[in-house]
Amino acid sequence: MIERRWAGTLPAKAHTQLRDPAGALRHEECITRRGFDGPFTILYHEHRPHTALPTSLAPLGLDDAGSLALTPAEASAPLLRRHFRGARVQSSGDPLSARRPLLFNRDVVVSLLRPTSALDAYSVNGDADELYFVHRGGGVLHSVLGELEFTEGDYLCIPRGIIHRFELDAGEQLWLLVECSAPVEVPAQYRNPVGQLRMDAPYGHRDFRAPRFVGPRDDGVRTLVVQRNRRWHGFALAHPALDVVGWDGALYPWALSIHDFQPKVGRVHLPPTIHGTFATRGALVCSFVPRLLDFGAGAIPCPYPHSSVDVDEVIFYARGEFGSRRGVGEASLSLHPAGIAHGPHPGRYEASAEEAEQGRQAGRPGATHELAVMLDCAEPLRVTPHAVAVEDGDYHQSFV
Ligand SMILES: [Fe+2]
Repeated sequence: MIERRWAGTLPAKAHTQLRDPAGALRHEECITRRGFDGPFTILYHEHRPHTALPTSLAPLGLDDAGSLALTPAEASAPLLRRHFRGARVQSSGDPLSARRPLLFNRDVVVSLLRPTSALDAYSVNGDADELYFVHRGGGVLHSVLGELEFTEGDYLCIPRGIIHRFELDAGEQLWLLVECSAPVEVPAQYRNPVGQLRMDAPYGHRDFRAPRFVGPRDDGVRTLVVQRNRRWHGFALAHPALDVVGWDGALYPWALSIHDFQPKVGRVHLPPTIHGTFATRGALVCSFVPRLLDFGAGAIPCPYPHSSVDVDEVIFYARGEFGSRRGVGEASLSLHPAGIAHGPHPGRYEASAEEAEQGRQAGRPGATHELAVMLDCAEPLRVTPHAVAVEDGDYHQSFV
């Protein structure tokens, strides 16, 4: 929800008649959040939008809900700093069955997926907003509101309730997915009183991409997969899914490239919240992007050891050298739980101070080329067997 948009053919006023040239009445569908108190979008369909009947998902190979079930690997998780080698996660198939949940709590489910084929159905998530970070690959999101191209480095958000289908580009795909059970939003401090993104926000309205409206079309797909209560439910569509002639509202899929996030730097190290990108209930998503390092006299650019005592911290490492961590590689995920302090690996804090001093004396500001996505989560995260299967068991001890 960035701003209100509209496309296609609309009546002058909501909940009034819209007819086609032959006089046939269009059918309104209001998708609403927080009951009827939150953001909403009104769609105008050629057909009645509530005629789908249950059907088997066996032809799609989705009748087994096992990959959606969230089972912790440990009855009582050890309080350890943990590292999961995401590059080793095995995954293939369509974008639903390729999901491998790694971490979860009541607010978020963090998965990795490597989709290799399109799903021969439309899908809709009735449990959560889907926030993807496209680490590798890209494609086109086809939705009832239009088409949205996405590529490497994009955040792609599909609000709960929006019917969609992925078309994949050729080549490798590796996506981080954060399912958020409450809406994904721009942090409130980035808005001015009229809802505009503030001039000092780390991105502007023009950085967000919305679907390109195409209009009604029939691609022959007549199956809809609905995710609700961590199960897939199949429905047979009586008519084309993409039968919308116009829409108006603030709920729609959108994309933002992490490369359009504008970082801030300071004389001394700024807290991670300065990298805040999206907020949802119980979690803040932050973007760590290439930037100059802290430039003040005596500054230590390497992150200071800290005890952020109210949050479990997850970092997905996309690219570049991480000054404070060794052993993590591309697509690694680290989990630093609340309750114990964490910080740089041995020697990194001291080396960072030394390198910064040498750079200052040479008149050469330091810089980092790191690219990462961080989540600070209020509720304790549980670890799944998919994560344990790729765990680096020596990670906690590596800080000693
Ligand atoms: Fe941290």
